[in-house]
Amino acid sequence: MSALRNTVLLSVFLLLLVSASAFVEELDDSFMETRGADDIWLIKFYAPWCTFCKQLDPVWHQIGSELKSLGSPVNVGKSDATVSTGLAKEFRVRGYPAIIMLKKDVKYNYSGPRTREGIMDFANRVGGPLVRSLSSLQLFQHAMNHHDVMFVYVGATSQLKGKYISAAEELIVHTYFFSTSRDVLPKAVSLPSLPAVMVFKDGTYFTFNEELDGDLKSWINRERFPNYLKIDGYTLYAMGESGKLVVLALVEEKGLSEESLRFKSLVEKVAADYREIYSRNFLFGFMEGSGYINGLVMGEVTVPSFIVVNLSNDGYFLPPGAMETERHLLDFLNGVLDGSIQCQGGNGVGQRLKRFVYDAKLTLLPVFHRAPLLGCFLVGFPLTIAAVFCYLCCRARPAASDDDDNDGVALLAPSLQRRKKLTDKKSD
Ligand SMILES: *[C@@H]1O[C@H](CO)[C@@H](O)[C@H](O)[C@H]1NC(C)=O
Repeated sequence: MSALRNTVLLSVFLLLLVSASAFVEELDDSFMETRGADDIWLIKFYAPWCTFCKQLDPVWHQIGSELKSLGSPVNVGKSDATVSTGLAKEFRVRGYPAIIMLKKDVKYNYSGPRTREGIMDFANRVGGPLVRSLSSLQLFQHAMNHHDVMFVYVGATSQLKGKYISAAEELIVHTYFFSTSRDVLPKAVSLPSLPAVMVFKDGTYFTFNEELDGDLKSWINRERFPNYLKIDGYTLYAMGESGKLVVLALVEEKGLSEESLRFKSLVEKVAADYREIYSRNFLFGFMEGSGYINGLVMGEVTVPSFIVVNLSNDGYFLPPGAMETERHLLDFLNGVLDGSIQCQGGNGVGQRLKRFVYDAKLTLLPVFHRAPLLGCFLVGFPLTIAAVFCYLCCRARPAASDDDDNDGVALLAPSLQRRKKLTDKKSD
């Protein structure tokens, strides 16, 4: 009796184990040969020691089971990059966890927040058709309701469509691409000519103009953000590709003060009312919490406050005075554009040195705090090695030169001797 029960329990357990592992497959170096050519894969590369990877495990399993139950064509896998090094190399894995989607032979890196929602959206977007066709007004309106920013190709097959598809191939990691015909679009949408590429966002639409806007891909990269949005570290980083400056209202992480609410609506209002003037140069938004910006400016920014960030060079602009009214904000933005407000930070040599020291301090301070001895060791040990090394080098040099030429230069300082030897070499 109990033997039977044990067998039943064991088989249930095995069944659970099999079904659980079926959601996420462990992939090794043979993967590229054994996969189906048209299979779509979402793969997490991990390392056994990586804590971020472990934190992602339950999310990954959930994503695997959810995609399976939705009947998605996306397969979910994971691979230990320290074991399957060939596969990791093939996917150019540099950090852990790396989340990469493979579709046909194209690999797409995921760089957004490591949340279920973020990764699921990525999987559905990249796993689906490159360009989604909208065949009716209902479908068009449904899509409009679900996307803040929507790129739409209108017209028949053309050279422009070829460019649109190739842009989609690259930029599908960031945004959705649709296509439709003129008669599907609402009558109120005016189109000067066909074919056309349009972007619907911020309650309005813009049409791509090759003469004014240049390359289609860069235009899409510039236009793929709404004019005003909530910005986190990942988004801010991604906004760098737009080449625009980002105007931020920095507000508290939780429980916004009255002043924060005022700052937020001031930015939102200026973004909407002065779109014509500023949308070429600026993106607008608000950011909750100052951690990310503190890292950028390498200091403590006050909250709430305004800041304009140039992500192309890690530079930033701070308002010259109090910011009470819309006029103040406009003056601030104009000052940034006409150069009368100085850019701070940046990625010059001095700034990079400062960043190095800042990062080192940030890493070492908690160590000193918790384990002063270990901290001293961490700093002292490399310094000692370096000092000993320098000392040995300096001592070794005169001895070596004595071997080469015994002409009494031992009296000269080592550095002078070195220079002399170098000039000797050159004249040879
Ligand atoms: C932002 O940085 C880029 C790259 O260094 C630079 O060309 C551009 O002029 C900067 N923009 C402003 C407004 O300072």
